[in-house]
Formats: sequence, structure tokens, C-alpha cells
Amino acid sequence: MSVIQIDVKKQDVEYKRSLCRQLEQGNILVLSETPFLPSSEECEFLREQRQSASASHKNIAYKPNLNKMTGANAENEQTAARMETILAAYSRGALAFLSDLFPDYSSTWRVDYASFRPVEEQGRDLPLRHRNDLMHLDAFPTRPTNGGRILRAFTNLHPTRDRVWAITNSFEDLADRYAVAAGLNNVTGPFATTRRQAIRFARLLGAKLPDRSPYDEFMLKFHHYLKSNAEFQQNGRTETAVFPPGATWISFTDQVAHAVVSGQYALEQTCIVPFAAMVHPELAPVTVLQKLARRKLVDGGASSLSAEAQERVHV
Ligand code: SIN
Ligand code: FE
Repeated sequence: MSVIQIDVKKQDVEYKRSLCRQLEQGNILVLSETPFLPSSEECEFLREQRQSASASHKNIAYKPNLNKMTGANAENEQTAARMETILAAYSRGALAFLSDLFPDYSSTWRVDYASFRPVEEQGRDLPLRHRNDLMHLDAFPTRPTNGGRILRAFTNLHPTRDRVWAITNSFEDLADRYAVAAGLNNVTGPFATTRRQAIRFARLLGAKLPDRSPYDEFMLKFHHYLKSNAEFQQNGRTETAVFPPGATWISFTDQVAHAVVSGQYALEQTCIVPFAAMVHPELAPVTVLQKLARRKLVDGGASSLSAEAQERVHV
């Protein structure tokens, strides 16, 4: 796993495609200077803001599709409005930059949330499953992807301190070692199938429950399993990645196991990229897991394309 600098001067299609390859191989891309960084006054303003004390808000979230901020603890309406404006501009800037860099992804991706992370991550007191300082793969409990990929860009807004991540071996390696113990074979069993049918029925009656494919169910189990596996937490931190003030880094965080060791003040934008947009579909978590489980884990046909069809997705 490597951290690779993006050369913003290179604009040709082949270079951009090579960056997709790097990401899909589990590498992290970095920009040492962020073209969509808020101004220094705006960064200063954000660093003065606090998030709500409520345990239901891990960060301050911004939902681009609704132009709505949640989780902030602003002094007054004016402060809240200024914060929302800065988060909206960051989200727009990040999305424009990512769309230009990854046209193969942006034509079909789903724009997810952005966030501001004002709390020091080192020693943060959170319930185990919410802790970011434990190694994990990202999985969103309420927003299943059905094999789609979690692409995230983070920006370090601290004026002087790095944001430090611990990272680890490839997804394939983690899946080989831990997927069965984490419950890979249970997500397609009779109990899981009956449970999903019940959820679908409840949804028809208006219940707001996420309808997770077996893939999503497993990725959530894997997230919890990895965080609670003491042996993995102790021995799994094979590398450290250091992101300096003003830098932006981009990664498929459903594939790259990570823990934030330390750092305060970061902005982040997430997009969900469909499996069909992958340049290396064979490396996607869903493909790796389906091979191990020897069965389909998603709805529809996207991830069960034949190798030949997968070749044709990107020539
Ligand atoms: C995460 O674990 O997804 C958060 C990483 C960070 O905030 O740097
Ligand atoms: Fe994470």
C-alpha cells in the first residue's frame, strides 16, 4: 500500500485512468496543496466551531443534495449560516476537482455527505464501534451500496499539525484472514434471507429500515469485527501515513483499512462509485468476497459480470 502524489499538471486521460488504477489497487492519492481549500479566514472560523454534544453526531455533517448541515453547535443563526456556506463551498470544490480527475467515476457516482471533524481524534472517548482510532474498513449502516465503492477525500485543516493514519495490508489479505470469522457465510444463510424478507415487508409498511444486500450486511459485520479484534488491532498496523496541514488525500476507504492515530480539524467529501465504473473490478471488495463465499452477495447483475464483460467495461 503506498501514498502517491497527484500531479495536477497532468491532464491526459491515460494519467487520470492510472490514478483510478492506483486507488483500486488500495493506494492513497495525495495533493500536498488543496485547490479547493477554504480561505485562511474561513479555516480559522471553522476551527472555532464546536459540534453538538449529542452522542448521535460523530462529526458535523453536510448533505450536498439537501444543502443541509447537521451536528453543529453554532452560537446563533448567523454563525450556523456561515458554517453551512463554507461547508457547501468545500463540498462543491471537492466534487468539481474529483469529477475532473475521475471522469470514469463521476458520470455515475452518487454524491454522499461531506463532513467537518473538529474534535482531536487521539484519545477520543467514543463507543467501540464509533472509534476512528481503531483499524477498520468503512461501511455505512444506513446507506447500503450494493457493491458500490466508498470514495472519500479528506483535507487537513489544522494550521500546524499533521493528521496521521495507520494503514494495513491489502483487502484480499484481510478477507483471506478474517472474512469467514467475521460471518461471511452467514449473510446468505436461511436466517439472513428471512430477516431481509421481514425488513422488506416492514419497509412496505413505512418502516425506515435500510434494505442491505448480503454484501452490505457483511461489510458492516466486518467493520465491527475488525474494530473488536484485539490481535488485529495490535499487529495489523503495518504502515503510517502522514498528511500535513493543507493536504488532501483520496482513498477507497471500504478497501483500505485505516485508523486515525491523531489529528484535529478535517473536512471530508464522500461519493459512492458503482461497481460497474471500476477499472479493476477483480480487486473490488465485492469480487474478492464473492470469490471467497462462492456465491453472489449483491442484488442485480453488476458484480456478477463475466471476466470478459468486465474487460469491456474499460478498454
Ligand atoms: C475514518 O475513519 O473514516 C475517519 C478518518 C479521519 O477522519 O481522518
Ligand atoms: Fe473510517
